[in-house]
Amino acid sequence: MRLLRLASLLFSLTPVAAIAQETATLTIDTAQPVASVSPTLYGIMTEEINYSYDGGLYAELVSNRTFQTNRGLSLEHWTLIQNGNARADLEIDRTTGPSAAIPHSLKFTVTAANRQAEAGFDNTGFWGMALQPSTSYQGSFYAKADNPNLGELTIRLVNDDSGKIAASTTTTALGGSWQKYDFTLKTGDLTPSADNHLEFLAQRPGTAWFQLISLFPPTYNNEPNGKRTDLMQKLAALHPSFLRFPGGNYLEGEHLNQHYEWKKTIGPLVDRPTHPTPWTYRSSDGIGLLEFLTWCEDLHMEPLLAVFSGYSLLQEHIAPGKDLEPYVQDALDEIEYVTGDASTRWGAERAKGGHPAPFHLKFIEVGNEEYHDQSGTYDARFAQFYKAIKQRYPQLQLVAAAPVTSVRPDILDDNDHNLRTHFYRTAQQFFVDTHHYDAYDRSGPKILVGEWATREGSPTTNLGAALGDAAWMTGLERNSDLVVMASYAPLFVNVNPGGMQWPSDLIGYDAMNSYGSPSYYAQLLFSTHLGNQILDARLDTTNPRLFAAATCDSKTHLLHLKLVNASSRPQPIAIKLAGAAHIRSHATVTTLSGNTTQETNSITDPNRIVPAAGNIANAAATFTQTVPKYAIQVIDIDMN
Ligand code: AHR
Repeated sequence: MRLLRLASLLFSLTPVAAIAQETATLTIDTAQPVASVSPTLYGIMTEEINYSYDGGLYAELVSNRTFQTNRGLSLEHWTLIQNGNARADLEIDRTTGPSAAIPHSLKFTVTAANRQAEAGFDNTGFWGMALQPSTSYQGSFYAKADNPNLGELTIRLVNDDSGKIAASTTTTALGGSWQKYDFTLKTGDLTPSADNHLEFLAQRPGTAWFQLISLFPPTYNNEPNGKRTDLMQKLAALHPSFLRFPGGNYLEGEHLNQHYEWKKTIGPLVDRPTHPTPWTYRSSDGIGLLEFLTWCEDLHMEPLLAVFSGYSLLQEHIAPGKDLEPYVQDALDEIEYVTGDASTRWGAERAKGGHPAPFHLKFIEVGNEEYHDQSGTYDARFAQFYKAIKQRYPQLQLVAAAPVTSVRPDILDDNDHNLRTHFYRTAQQFFVDTHHYDAYDRSGPKILVGEWATREGSPTTNLGAALGDAAWMTGLERNSDLVVMASYAPLFVNVNPGGMQWPSDLIGYDAMNSYGSPSYYAQLLFSTHLGNQILDARLDTTNPRLFAAATCDSKTHLLHLKLVNASSRPQPIAIKLAGAAHIRSHATVTTLSGNTTQETNSITDPNRIVPAAGNIANAAATFTQTVPKYAIQVIDIDMN
């Protein structure tokens, strides 16, 4: 009896042997493609949220470099240093600054200091400052002094814990009027860490004013005012075909006067006033319109430029007609900035900013999530933008951010009609809706799925979310004659405490490291195995959580098969490739899978769920492939 009880206990603790699902059948017509795959199907969507740029992609190490937060002028992230018996004070001075855009500054008054007792101030960065050994950091600041007494300043990078100086330099004595100073800090031998801060120190009494204190590590492609290399590399690996920017709610602002004003984000940093965002923190606008465009250029993405439509998040709007005209003009100016040659008014501004060649531009979206506008004015506002833009730029494709009837947009940024939001859903909601676009009206505008994600797992999404995403993407691919663009959102999250405003994101990071979520790898698998022709793929199964799509490449004759088994059991599939003249028996298979739907990657465990490459030896007109439980598989079959 006791033995029996022991046996039954053991049995209950042993994982149930993997009982397979009933074999499914997938029949693919390889001879007759049903339509072309949209070359812009997979893109990325971005905005300033979750410290995506400041404290994220934008490589600036100094936080609050212009002494202002969402709430106004502030010394947040700046601390006074008084070593030994030094005496000094820090305050914001509203009466002087280096430019009309930044008319205030940090006033630093030293009443007592000497070589052994320095006075100064420090900046703690975005949850620290990541330092690497033997690396040069390029810094700059604007300053003036009341007289030369203060003398030269020492600038240092210092380890928070040990106090060890990682790099140090000295400035010249500051002049009496506003001037820009550049400096370089070079580290020696050190252990890479984010536990560092930046110090400015004086050894003599005096008063000086500072503004725009900045420090950059080496950036992607060594671009000045550039972007973080690890994050750009992660995006490059996705091969995104377009970038939807600058938002999102970030485009709209909470109030009309807080919308994204592109003209205030161009030119030298000192001429950018910065602006409050709906996501609780202020944007430095270091990534301004030009930096968005060079980002597109660097990663070979089509810009999908969203222009402000005259509607803000808290239900304020500009009436269509005369009142809206300046906003329409602003959009026309913006398009000229992007595409005009250097002889045009705004093309010349772009050339002055260092980019004489016009950018390629095909897509313009007017506003964001305009179905929230209770005034009912979007239809007329869109029509006003549409007519003005099409008249001057007939080649541009215009995207409506909500359904409209008075003109026919080229593309509609679609939303979940039940949830009345973009497609932010659970995995189950996606599983039951993968045929969403199968019977959609093909006579209307093309579709942009401008924001979508399975929102499971935080700060970055988990394997269950990746399965929901992949299931949904099989439907997008099957219908990519209609769904011409789709962009997952949000893209980024700084995982430090307080860094996140939207708790389900694609790529996580802190000051030192970054990682992709399982959803990131699902995106990567789908976007890097996309042919140019959609094939008819019929799935016959009793498994409600099995999904498939097939595309092929007319040049390489590679068949790309996406299989998603979101069930807890392995799934054998009898694959029938009808109409293929040649099939090489050797095929490749890439698998993303895990033990549970909760399994995930994190900043401390970044590679738990990553794609694994494998081979199939028996690809043929009919062969069986077993997809593991909770798995996404991409199979590439050579039909040459
Ligand atoms: O992606 C986060 C937010 O979700 C976007 O800013 C907004 O467009 C949507 O509601």
